[in-house]
Amino acid sequence: MNKTRIKITPSILGIDYGRMNEHLAELAPFSDMFHVDVMDGNFVPNLTIGMPIVSCIKTDVPLDCHLMIRNPHRYVEQFVEAGADSITIHAEASLHLAPDVEKIKKAGAKACVAINPETPVEKIAAVLPMLDMVLVMSINPGFGGQKFMPEVLEKVRWIREHYPNLDIQIDGGINDETAPLAIEAGANVLVSGSYILKSRDYEGAVASLKKNR
Ligand code: DX5
Ligand code: ZN
Repeated sequence: MNKTRIKITPSILGIDYGRMNEHLAELAPFSDMFHVDVMDGNFVPNLTIGMPIVSCIKTDVPLDCHLMIRNPHRYVEQFVEAGADSITIHAEASLHLAPDVEKIKKAGAKACVAINPETPVEKIAAVLPMLDMVLVMSINPGFGGQKFMPEVLEKVRWIREHYPNLDIQIDGGINDETAPLAIEAGANVLVSGSYILKSRDYEGAVASLKKNR
C-alpha cells in the first residue's frame, strides 16, 4: 500500500491548442502539474511543440516539460525561460547525464530523468541521488493512447525500495485500471493523457485514478 499523496499530471499532448489556455483552465483545478510533451521527430518519431508555445501557457499549475529530444542540454535554459518549473530529460537521449541534470538545476528548475521501457534502472543509478523526480515510461515514447506495459513496474518497485522519498512518475497508458498497479508498485505521480482528455468529466476521471488504494 502506498500511503504517499498521489499527484496527477495530465499530459497536454491531446489538448485543443486552438484554445490552449481555456482548455488548460478547465483541467487546472484537478491537476498537480501539467505534463508538456516535447518531441523532436528524431529521438521519437513524432513532432510536437517547443519553447514558443510553452511560453504562451498562462496558468498557476506548475509545468513539467518532458523533453523527448536528443541532446536535451541544448534547450534546458530556453525551456526554463519559457516557464518550465521542472524538466525531464531522457537517459537515452543525453550524452552526459549527470552534467545535464546539474544544468537543469542551475537553470532554476527541478530535475527529472526518464527511462524508456527497455532501459534498465542501472543506467540512471548514479544520478538518482541528484534528482527531484524520476520518470518510468510505461509505453515507448512518441504517441499518446498506447497500451500500458506492466513489465516496467519492477523498475518502479526497485526505485521505491531504494528511494522512499523520491517522486516517481509513470507515463503511458495510465487509466483507472492501470493506475492502481502503478501506485501499488510505488509510483506517486501519475501522468495521464488520453484517459483524462477523452473523459467529459475531468474531476471524475482524476478521482478515479487515485482510487482503489
Ligand atoms: C508519450 C508521452 C506521454 C503521453 C501519455 O510519448 O510522453 O506523456 O502523452 O498519453 P497516454 O496517457 O494517452 O498514454
Ligand atoms: Zn510524456
